[in-house]
Amino acid sequence: MNTNMNDLIVRAARKQPVERIPVWIMRQAGRYMPEYRAIRANHDFLTMCRTPEIAVEVSMQPIDHIGMDAGIIFSDILIPVEAMGIKVTFEKDHGPKLHNTVRNLEDVKNLVVPEPSEVMPFVGESIKLFREKLNDRLPVLGFSGAPWTLAAYMIEGGGSKNYNKIKAFMFNEKQAFPLLMEKITETVVKHLMAQIEAGASMVQIFDTWAGCLSPQDYLTYAFPYEQAVIRRIKELTDTPVTLYINGCGNFLEKMPDTGADVLSIDWMVDLALAKKLVGGRVALQGNLDPCCLYGSPEFVKARVLEVLNKFGKETGYIFNLGHGILPDIPVENVKLLVETVKNY
Ligand code: CP3
Repeated sequence: MNTNMNDLIVRAARKQPVERIPVWIMRQAGRYMPEYRAIRANHDFLTMCRTPEIAVEVSMQPIDHIGMDAGIIFSDILIPVEAMGIKVTFEKDHGPKLHNTVRNLEDVKNLVVPEPSEVMPFVGESIKLFREKLNDRLPVLGFSGAPWTLAAYMIEGGGSKNYNKIKAFMFNEKQAFPLLMEKITETVVKHLMAQIEAGASMVQIFDTWAGCLSPQDYLTYAFPYEQAVIRRIKELTDTPVTLYINGCGNFLEKMPDTGADVLSIDWMVDLALAKKLVGGRVALQGNLDPCCLYGSPEFVKARVLEVLNKFGKETGYIFNLGHGILPDIPVENVKLLVETVKNY
């Protein structure tokens, strides 16, 4: 690693000393930025993900215009799902749509475990180009969906209110569900390793929708696969791993057993309580409610400081939102957020 690199995030993840609290934002390259919208106006979202020059250009925007302490590769958790054999499209204002959803054992058997270098070479190429453009100023974060959340998209066909289809599938399909999860786990490990080998300094695993599970079902159907992914990554590298679940409060005390270095927590959990419960075992990331960024500048600053005060000035903490930023948030408030964290 270049000695001029601002590696605050990686050090905070490892609980090594830091000069100040690092900050980045989930979905930081996105529609709330006018510079992003200008490029998005001319390109389809998946084309942007698949074209390293464009992906890197938008990945740089929140670094250049807002001053984040890390870059995250511009991609989507559904890129490897597509590579497994499911047709994915993004409908305007309706989010992702998966066309040939998984309904039975036969469908699971037909899925492939893709070789990233063959089917998704643009992911590694984007990370390499991103690192070149950054000239080692900042670390690049890689990411993947977690097996349960990816299975949810594959079975539900898109976002879902009740997750009834995947729950029925996991309760009934005693053969097909574990096979599906094994195939996704294998895909996720390969996908993350390809990103680490291409130069990602840290990776985040999004089990975004696992928060809809009961604690018992989380332990049975989601946790073992999070743990399997992280165990495999840790056998191969010492790259820090972050685990995110939206609505993680009830699982918090179990989550460190996955082997994750950092837990990224949502705003429905009190950060001081989370620190008390698991702060000795892992670093924490989060957890401002993204909707606070709709407030006045005074309100934004006060809410950011409130979160900062809850953790205190120790290492082992990365400032972030409790979930991804929303497209209609005023960019000035995001700048104020970053400035407030940096001046803390
Ligand atoms: O954080 C970053 O800046 C990196 C890029 C990133 C995207 N998606 C780009 C994106 C990351 C890390 C993701 C992860 C992702 N994708 C998750 C997990 C994180 C989370 O928010 O829970 C999920 C669940 C998805 C699936 C997905 N992709 C949805 C539900 C949507 C539609 C919602 C929306 O905001 O429209 C997407 C589209 C998407 N992924 C966009 C971006 C910038 C918007 C695309 C556009 O410009 O139209």
